Amino acid sequence: MTKPIRLGVNIDHVATIRNARGGVHPDPVRAAELAATCGADGVTAHLREDRRHIRDDDMRRLKDEIGLPLNFEMAATAEMLKLATEIAPHACCIVPENRNERTTEGGLDVAGQHNFIAPFVRELTDAGIRASLFVDPEREQIEAAKSAGSPVIEIHTGAYYEATFATDPARIKHELEKVRAAASIADGLGLEVHAGHGLTFMNVQPVAAIPEIVELNIGHFLVGEAVFMGLGEAIKEMKRLMQDARTGGHY
Ligand code: PXP
Repeated sequence: MTKPIRLGVNIDHVATIRNARGGVHPDPVRAAELAATCGADGVTAHLREDRRHIRDDDMRRLKDEIGLPLNFEMAATAEMLKLATEIAPHACCIVPENRNERTTEGGLDVAGQHNFIAPFVRELTDAGIRASLFVDPEREQIEAAKSAGSPVIEIHTGAYYEATFATDPARIKHELEKVRAAASIADGLGLEVHAGHGLTFMNVQPVAAIPEIVELNIGHFLVGEAVFMGLGEAIKEMKRLMQDARTGGHY
């Protein structure tokens, strides 16, 4: 039986726009409320060390005021672990973080940092939070995520996005194949498989059609498209495209 696919709406860049002027408008929590009424299955927010978009209080309000599962993205630091265990979101996705990057540039090196990541995953699990590790579509990283005790991985689709952006069919095929193979390896190991980064109306369907992937986390494109069609309509259209791809509809 085909597994359903969920859409996690990442509202970081609503906060980016708010912070461009200071003040409180637009409110990322209001965006999350809207997402909840337009078909989102979860809300994702990344609390960065430099607080460039989401702030501590946003994360607390998202947990307290929104009925959807909250996916707290964060770096593996003691500061973030303390906040996550206080706020108690549904899930925490561990990502690598580099102060000078514009966005999360690559997956976590779980294989190289196993002795550091495994206890981190254990602390989250002990606190009742579902851990997820954001990894590149590589066997070594997926096997390391499994052995670190994570129940979930999120596959970084950034290289696939870059290929679609370059409109290079051979590269698109190659990168998509890597995502497909990674999803199959992870599922075979009993991991729950999510994916995200750089997904748009134009490139989401081949990823949504991969049967092992049960959740996509999408942010930047939806917030950008909100300028033209409104956030609610953008979320509804993304969900429609995902579901059509899943059921073999128009894809
Ligand atoms: N998943 C993870 C782990 C991310 O770090 C990001 C980017 O913040 C996303 C998904 C969403 O990527 P985008 O904003 O490009 O849709």
